[in-house]
Amino acid sequence: MAEILGIGCTHYPPGLVPDEYCPWPLPFQLRSDPRIPEHLKDPRNWPAAMQAEWANDQGVAAHAPQAARMREAFRRLRDRMGAPEDFTVVELGAGRGEMAAALGEFSYVPVDLGGRMPDGVRGVVFSNEFFDALPVHAAVMRGGATRELRVGMEGDRFAWIEAGPAPEEVECYRKRYLGDLSDGQIFEAALESLAWLERIAAALAEGFVITIDYGYTAAELVRFPGGTLMSYRRHQALEDVLKDPGEQDITAHVCFSALQQHGKRVGLEMDRFERLAQTVMASGEADQFAAALAAGSPQDEQRRRLQLKQLLFGMGETFRTLVQRKVGRK
Ligand SMILES: C[S@@+](CC[C@H](N)C(=O)[O-])C[C@H]1O[C@@H](n2cnc3c(N)ncnc32)[C@H](O)[C@@H]1O
Repeated sequence: MAEILGIGCTHYPPGLVPDEYCPWPLPFQLRSDPRIPEHLKDPRNWPAAMQAEWANDQGVAAHAPQAARMREAFRRLRDRMGAPEDFTVVELGAGRGEMAAALGEFSYVPVDLGGRMPDGVRGVVFSNEFFDALPVHAAVMRGGATRELRVGMEGDRFAWIEAGPAPEEVECYRKRYLGDLSDGQIFEAALESLAWLERIAAALAEGFVITIDYGYTAAELVRFPGGTLMSYRRHQALEDVLKDPGEQDITAHVCFSALQQHGKRVGLEMDRFERLAQTVMASGEADQFAAALAAGSPQDEQRRRLQLKQLLFGMGETFRTLVQRKVGRK
């Protein structure tokens, strides 16, 4: 799994794009993200493996082995399929198709807004932070019924308005994938995600669907009583999604239970489902975090342990990878 994610100190697919797209998010976040503890902004306090990747070029040279690991992971998937000659890698939400160079040895098809899925794909359809960018319906539970949340005006600002009963398909989504919810629970029905999954399953003759994204399972929705809609602006998370329209990206966490269950219905069997924390732990050495934790006093070390735990079990718990497989007809 770490290979698929391209795990390393630059850590995720943007780190695999050509060097001219630097600086990628890590240097930017080190400068500007208030959530990163001061001592961890200094590379000298990082784990040895991470310092080695960062080197004196901010990790540029480390891109090459990461891209190689990712290619090797795709080759292994191709082998699992019996190495078909027309093996193709389709990337959804590919932006400017920056992965093209890294994946040049495969037939690579980037799909973004305005593009469409090719037909009869034998290979891998993968996405990183694509499903969370799709539109959702917002709703709230009130007295056992589902009510739609719409956007209205309060003075000169956009505001959420509790409207009438939610459309039938939203209620079906809730019952099928989320089940009984407590009064006041806000949730999103990701109908567009299901439509995309159908599109993918129909286009895939045989192969794998790899979905990497922030998400949750139905049982975990209680952790998000206010729903999962979030805004991002310059890599900073913001809760008020209606503020500054057009200036910030709006995302909703992906309901992986819905993707798994709906996938099964359309011929995609679950192959693997992992949290980033598991992946990082599995890819790390036993003392990977020793340097990050080493501190002058026991109190300091305790504090650093807590920060590391928050990192791994905050983002590390919500960022997940789902691998589904469609087996071709004999
Ligand atoms: C958050 S970005 C992720 C970009 C890239 N995959 C990455 O990891 O950096 C989401 C991408 O999905 C694309 N996208 C959103 N809705 C889409 C749709 N309906 N069809 C195709 N692409 C879409 C956006 O244009 C954008 O490039």
